[in-house]
Amino acid sequence: MKLLAINGSPRKEKNTAQLLEKVCAGAASKQAETELVHLRNIHYQGCVSCFQCKSPNGKSYGRCGLVDELTPILQKAHEADVLVLGSPFYFSMESSLMRAFMERLWFQYLLYTNLKPPLSPKKKAVALVYTMGAQEEYITVLKMDSVISVSKGLMERFFAPCEVFLCCDDMLFDDYSKYETDFFDVSAKLKRHQEVFPQELEQAFALGTRLVE
Ligand SMILES: Cc1cc2nc3c(=O)[nH]c(=O)nc-3n(C[C@H](O)[C@H](O)[C@H](O)COP(=O)(O)O)c2cc1C
Repeated sequence: MKLLAINGSPRKEKNTAQLLEKVCAGAASKQAETELVHLRNIHYQGCVSCFQCKSPNGKSYGRCGLVDELTPILQKAHEADVLVLGSPFYFSMESSLMRAFMERLWFQYLLYTNLKPPLSPKKKAVALVYTMGAQEEYITVLKMDSVISVSKGLMERFFAPCEVFLCCDDMLFDDYSKYETDFFDVSAKLKRHQEVFPQELEQAFALGTRLVE
């Protein structure tokens, strides 16, 4: 059993990464093999619309034909039993690192025909992990719920029922005094980080155990 987690935050030690590390730790506690990939480390592009993945007689049918540093990661995602995608919200979307990854992951499996099912490996447990600076009540106001719904729908189209894990009202910086931040109630943020975030890390651990069971 192999779980692959993909971090779409450019920060390799912050909220998204910490949650994904816990997902991996939860899976490892059930003897699963785990790997956490930081997209920040990889040089790649989004889909270039070459359509090599749509040519039944081509060598890349059903697989992304663009060869770059994402190619081995897409192969790992294809083979993994469990795939967890984690991203911060950036302007009410997944980060560009994650969007580019999603384009390449999903498009290779999409067929422009109703005569065949998508070319994705269906037997894959999947989850989406989102972090955001906004409080929960702003998810709808900032239309982040629409993005979650579209991405969840696509994960389910290509793989299997997709669990969504939301972590709201995150700490943006370690030291708020260094920045202009009158927008935020810093003491409330710190309190939440000390009291609620550890519980969310535990929930992420539990998610990891569930996904490999
Ligand atoms: C460019 C940028 C855009 C952001 N846009 C949003 C947003 O639209 N909604 C939101 O709730 N938080 C937004 N945030 C805050 C991040 O989503 C939040 O801090 C997240 O926890 C960062 O993840 P990380 O700690 O793993 O890097 C934004 C942050 C950055 C840097």
